[in-house]
Amino acid sequence: MTLPLLHPLTADAKRRHGREPVVLLHRLAETGLFTDEALARLIDRHPRELIDVLTMKRNPPPDERWIAGEAKGMSGKDLMEAVRRGRLWLNLRRAMSADVEYRAVFEPLLAEFAKETRSTILSAVGGILISSPRCGIFYHCDPTETMLWHVRGKKTIYLYPPDDTHLPEQAYEAAILKETLNDLPYRPEFEAGAKPVVLEPGMAATWPLHGPHRVVNHDSLNVSVTIEYSTARSKLANGVFFTNGVLRRKLGLNPRSRTVPTVLKPAYWLASKLLQRLVPLPDAPRNHVRAFDVDLKAPDCIAWRPGLEPAEPMDRAA
Ligand SMILES: [Fe+2]
Repeated sequence: MTLPLLHPLTADAKRRHGREPVVLLHRLAETGLFTDEALARLIDRHPRELIDVLTMKRNPPPDERWIAGEAKGMSGKDLMEAVRRGRLWLNLRRAMSADVEYRAVFEPLLAEFAKETRSTILSAVGGILISSPRCGIFYHCDPTETMLWHVRGKKTIYLYPPDDTHLPEQAYEAAILKETLNDLPYRPEFEAGAKPVVLEPGMAATWPLHGPHRVVNHDSLNVSVTIEYSTARSKLANGVFFTNGVLRRKLGLNPRSRTVPTVLKPAYWLASKLLQRLVPLPDAPRNHVRAFDVDLKAPDCIAWRPGLEPAEPMDRAA
């Protein structure tokens, strides 16, 4: 592997980073870690409880959640074949940051990114998404700074501004208080504010903190790296939303989070740390139902478990 993995950012990209969507260029594919063979080996050794196996309609509607399944006993080679032929979305959580071989690339990559963008990264986690043609991710936001480094195939990420229209404060509070699963209320008129970015291999997209986004793959198997990282900015912002979310729920107040002056944010952050101890959060709502098994012989490689097949047909036109 030769460094650098990240192409230098233009002065304009450096200025816009963190405020607007920015596209970066990288050489992750050249590491050899993202070929079918390398990914099959990674799947074989990555803890299975860290691999999410999901399905959805092709060209999924922006507000439709996934259905979870299992790939018990399947080899990495067979699972790669199922993603190529079927309708699957694999999320190898923490693979970039936890697997020794991938961490050897993740750490220098992150260091280059931090230097180029002048970011101070407090902590970071990286995962790998391997997904079928025409699959995608519904409209949601993430609590940390997030970015998508695309390695194989082609996909469109739709990026929306984190404003009162696309991300109402109360919707974000519900996510950070773990009342929801990061999915957000969606309305078709949001598309007027969307910035679609077509990602080809070697491109990465970054966007402003909490910016809602959704993804649709084109007609190819897709491999991407997701990176979630914390900065002082993300921690302070989340401290404000958390504290205000608790005040709204426990004291019936109606606070605004986006107008809190920067100088006051550390106090909110401290309050949020205290409140996290005093006010127990509900367990994150998780859907534990596994509705299908991956099966190379089944249509779309999805074998529905008895009684769990969706009532409505899963396939829909583009
Ligand atoms: Fe996301």
